[in-house]
Amino acid sequence: MNLLHNHRIWPGKGKSSEPLVGWWMKRLREHHLQTYDHCVRVALLADKIVTALGHEEHRLSIINGCFLHDLGKIYISLETLDSTSKLSDEEWEQIRLHPVAGYQLLQFAGLAGEVPSYVLHHHERWDGRGYPYGLRGEEIPFGARLCAVSDALDCMLTHRPYQRSMNVDQALIELQKNAGTQFDEQIVQTVFNLSDELYRMYALKLGATQSIER
Ligand SMILES: [Fe+2]
Repeated sequence: MNLLHNHRIWPGKGKSSEPLVGWWMKRLREHHLQTYDHCVRVALLADKIVTALGHEEHRLSIINGCFLHDLGKIYISLETLDSTSKLSDEEWEQIRLHPVAGYQLLQFAGLAGEVPSYVLHHHERWDGRGYPYGLRGEEIPFGARLCAVSDALDCMLTHRPYQRSMNVDQALIELQKNAGTQFDEQIVQTVFNLSDELYRMYALKLGATQSIER
């Protein structure tokens, strides 16, 4: 897949790393606001989790990686992103490519450090059944493992075209069920200690949250 010749994401010559990445995120916001807003919340959640874990030295790169994690969705059609029905094989293929697409964009922009690898691996699973490479356990970069938890949590706590949101307690139970299979147990445990913060952060979503209980 050569992404760089796609005219929709090519801003022209002479752009360097940070403005280029910022420009692409602006394009993502224009393409699909819900995905952009999700990226912002995943980064905010990641900040809380990484601070609680005490990994200050990785804090900025993890926040950046989480903000950029779904950049590759700039290539996914709105029909697929907003679909409420079962996705076709072709649509799933588009979805499964987005970590690689985001990684390639960041590599092209010359973004240094760990951030591109967090984007590339944010859909890996602890048990090795994730994508794109099926890495397992600590083979998965720590920032990508944290992003996977933050990503899943935000997806559960916000309303989606294909699913209603959960309340914080329901989402934490769901995370716990998948700790040690999908997610890093230590990170999940840390999130449990942040439940008060989660209630505060998602307070504005209570209207949607309550809809699941009707
Ligand atoms: Fe993703």
